[in-house]
Amino acid sequence: MFQAPLPLELTHLTPEETAERIGTARQQLGDELLILGHHYQRDEIIRWADHRGDSFKLSQLAAQAKDARYIVFCGVHFMAESADILAGDDQIVILPNLSAGCSMADMANIRQVEDAWCDLTGIVPEADLVPVTYVNSAAALKAFVGRHGGACCTSSNARKVLEWAFTKGKKVLFFPDQHLGRNTAVEMGYDPDSDMAVWNPNAALGGCTAEKIAASRVILWKGHCSVHGRFTVDQVAAARAEYPDVNVIVHPECTLAVVRASDYNGSTEKIIRTISEAKPGTVWAVGTEINLVRRLQAQNLDKTVFCLDPVICPCSTMYRVHPHYLLWVLENLVAGRVVNQVEVKPEIRRWARVALDRMLEIS
Ligand code: 13P
Ligand code: SF4
Repeated sequence: MFQAPLPLELTHLTPEETAERIGTARQQLGDELLILGHHYQRDEIIRWADHRGDSFKLSQLAAQAKDARYIVFCGVHFMAESADILAGDDQIVILPNLSAGCSMADMANIRQVEDAWCDLTGIVPEADLVPVTYVNSAAALKAFVGRHGGACCTSSNARKVLEWAFTKGKKVLFFPDQHLGRNTAVEMGYDPDSDMAVWNPNAALGGCTAEKIAASRVILWKGHCSVHGRFTVDQVAAARAEYPDVNVIVHPECTLAVVRASDYNGSTEKIIRTISEAKPGTVWAVGTEINLVRRLQAQNLDKTVFCLDPVICPCSTMYRVHPHYLLWVLENLVAGRVVNQVEVKPEIRRWARVALDRMLEIS
């Protein structure tokens, strides 16, 4: 997505000046405005969020926020698209920086998914195959899933959605995150080798044999998160060597080996809940994005909380939502101008809504 450069004047504002102007604009917009913030946003953004949450909670909130005229989504593009699909027709969803995408979501496009479906249904009957897309995907992929009898999932409800999918068919095509798909299927008792195939969209027949596809229950798209892919089993071992009583908790976008080496795994919301409810004095090594880990540290001063990865790694696309962009979209709204609206085309919206509604019903 093309992001227009910010007016020079805004880029020269200090953090204090920026915060003051955001506060004024927010007050002027009053109840017309709802600001949603994903847990990976920096503190300077999160402080303005009316609600913060994981992808699932934010999609529920977008579906329920019937009063706000403007929903400013401080997160990444696929999240703002989901909010637009779930919000009412008269509501306007705005992403402060249009270049805030998700590298994982970019690992599957609609042409590749349609090609894969065509190849796979040449091997297994279409009625046996159920598509499931992680919400970290473009709206066109959600629409594909809606049209083909499948559902979306998030890291909060992937297991429930996969269980549902297996009541609808014998095999699941899961995209774009192979790790969330694999970790969830393993938790359900499937074998990562004999029950699963990895579909490489850049290879003929996904780099698989027809026999492997026929024998598999879950076909995993070869996509991953560049942030969570950094966590390693060695980091878990180092944390355990330093703190023998450490609790290791990671996001399910980490590899199976890392999830297996950890004590707990779950969505950002689950990570927050687990650490917040833990006993004082406990030690937590966390495998997720650094803005969230730092916030957990600040909010749990009675515990030891640290990031598994010593070379801290923020989600660079989430980080593109800088306060200057938030200020820019808000001041434009005050002036009666809508900038950076995220609007999903009606034909895509209709079927993507089916896939998201199924997810919300299943959860
Ligand atoms: P959550 O669903 O846990 O919020 O995760 C979203 C995400 O993009 C993690 O990388
Ligand atoms: Fe995408 Fe990973 Fe960033 Fe989540 S953390 S938005 S999956 S790149």
